[in-house]
Amino acid sequence: MSKFKNINPTIIVIFGGTGDLAKRKLFPAFQNLYLDGRMSKKFEIIALGRAEKSNEEFRSYVLENLNIFSRKKDTSDPETQKFLSHISYHSLDIDKEASYQSLNEKINAIDESFGERANRLFYLSITPSFITTISSNIKKIGLAANPKQDRIIIEKPFGYDKTSAIALNEMLSQTFKEEQIYRIDHYLGKETVQNILAFRFGNSMFEPLWSRNFIDFVQITVAEEVGVEERGGFYEGVGALKDMIQNHLLQILCMTAMEAPASLEADDIRNRKADVLKSIRRIKPEEVDHYVVRGQYDAGAIKGKPVPGYREDKGIAPDSITETYVAMKIYLDNWRWQGIPFYLRTGKRMEEKQSSIIIQFKPVPHSSFSYGKEGMTPNRLIINIQPAMDIKLQFMTKKPGLSLSLRPAEMIFDYFACSTMSPEAYETLIADALAGDPTLFMRWDQVEQAWDAIDTIQQVWKDTVPVNFPNYKAGSWGPEEADELLARQGHKWIPNTQTKEELLEDDTDI
Ligand code: BG6
Repeated sequence: MSKFKNINPTIIVIFGGTGDLAKRKLFPAFQNLYLDGRMSKKFEIIALGRAEKSNEEFRSYVLENLNIFSRKKDTSDPETQKFLSHISYHSLDIDKEASYQSLNEKINAIDESFGERANRLFYLSITPSFITTISSNIKKIGLAANPKQDRIIIEKPFGYDKTSAIALNEMLSQTFKEEQIYRIDHYLGKETVQNILAFRFGNSMFEPLWSRNFIDFVQITVAEEVGVEERGGFYEGVGALKDMIQNHLLQILCMTAMEAPASLEADDIRNRKADVLKSIRRIKPEEVDHYVVRGQYDAGAIKGKPVPGYREDKGIAPDSITETYVAMKIYLDNWRWQGIPFYLRTGKRMEEKQSSIIIQFKPVPHSSFSYGKEGMTPNRLIINIQPAMDIKLQFMTKKPGLSLSLRPAEMIFDYFACSTMSPEAYETLIADALAGDPTLFMRWDQVEQAWDAIDTIQQVWKDTVPVNFPNYKAGSWGPEEADELLARQGHKWIPNTQTKEELLEDDTDI
C-alpha cells in the first residue's frame, strides 16, 4: 500500500460542509482515516457554509454526527478530539468573490503555519448548479493554481444529460486539468465492488468461462428499501435512470464485463472500463419500450410496516412522473459478450435492500438424467455486494441416498466473515484522492459514454407520459413489466438470497 505512505500535507475545503453528505459520510470518513493513521501529520479541513458559526460550534456539531454515523462510534477517545482540532469552519457566500478572497487568506495562513504550501483538495458536496460559480471563482482567485498539488472532487450527477455534461466538463477544464478532476461514484469505493476485480483477475479458473461461450445471462440488481427520505427536492425530476443506472449500475456492469487490464495503473483499468461503455448497444427511440421498463412505487408495506406512495412523499408533486424503478436489458457489442443479455434493475421501496450480480451459466448440453436438462437448476455465480457481502457458487450435486438424484448446493465465500472492519466506500475514495490515485474515479470519457448510453431513453421518457404510474407497490419487486422483459427470453429475476432450504426446494428426483 505504498501509495498511502507519503501523503503530503493537505488542506481540504468542503463546499457544502454543513450538508447531509458531509455529516453522514465525509466527516466520518476523515475521522476514520485519521484514526487509522492515513492522514498526513499536517492537514486541515475547512468546512464551508453560508451561516456564521464559530469553530467550537461546528466541531461539536461534527462530534454529534460522528456519534451517529461513524463506524468507530467511541468518539470520547482523545484521538477523536485531536481530529476535531483539525477542522475549522468558514462562512462563504458562493456568489461573492470577496468570500473566496477571505478563503484564500485563510488557506495561505494555514500554509504559513505548515511551513510549506500544502496540497489542496476541494470537495464539492453541493447542488450541481453551483459548480460553475465555484469553479470560476476558484480560477479567478487562483485557489487551485498548482495542477500538481491541487485537486477537485465532484459528486454525481455530473450533468443531467450528455450535452449538459459536455458543457460542464468544458467549463471545469478551464480551471482544472483532467488529472485534477476526481468524479466520484461511491459504489466504486465499496469493498465488494473492488473485490470483483480481485476475483476476476486474481484467479485463473473463472476466466475461461467468463464469456458468451458459457454464460447465459447476467443480472445486476441494486434494490433499496428506503424511499426518497428527505431528498424529494433533489430526486423529483432526476429519477432512477440518472440517479442510479447512469452511474452505479453501469460501473458495476463495467467491472463485470471488462477485459483484463494490462496493469493496475489507473488509465489501464479505466481504458478497459471505457471500452465496455462504448460497446453498449445504443437503442433507437422506437426500441425503448422493448428494452427498458420504468416504474413508480405506490403505497405498500415493507417488512410489515406501511409506507406511503412516492407521490405522497415530502417534496413530490401529486402527479409526479419521476421513475423510482428501472429495469433494462443491455447488449454489449463486442467479441466476448455478443448476444448475451445483461439485465439491470434498480428501485426504491423494494421488498428488501440488496445489491448483487448474478451470472447464470448455460445449461448442460445434454442430460443423462431422465427428467432432462430442464429439471436442473443452472450453475450460478452470485456476487453479493450489500448488505450480504459474499460470493456463492451454485451447482448440482448428488442427493445423499440410494438413488441417483440431484439437488442444488452452494459454496460460499463470506467477505464479512473475513473482516468486519472494512473501510466505508468514502474512506477508500478520499484516501485515494489524497494520495493522487484516480483509479476508482470516473474519467471524463466514461461519464460521456454513460450519458450517451442512456440519453435516448431519457429523451423518449420526457416525450411520453407514463399513464400507468404508480405501477408497483412499495415492498414488492417492481412492476410486472419487468418480469415480462425477461420472460420474453425465457428468463426470470433470480433471488440472490435464497436460503439453503429454498435452494433445496429445487430438489429433483430421477
Ligand atoms: C446515491 C443515490 O448515489 O446512492 C441514492 O443518489 C441512493 O438515491 C444511494 O439511495 C444508494 O447508495 P448505497 O451506498 O446506500 O447503496
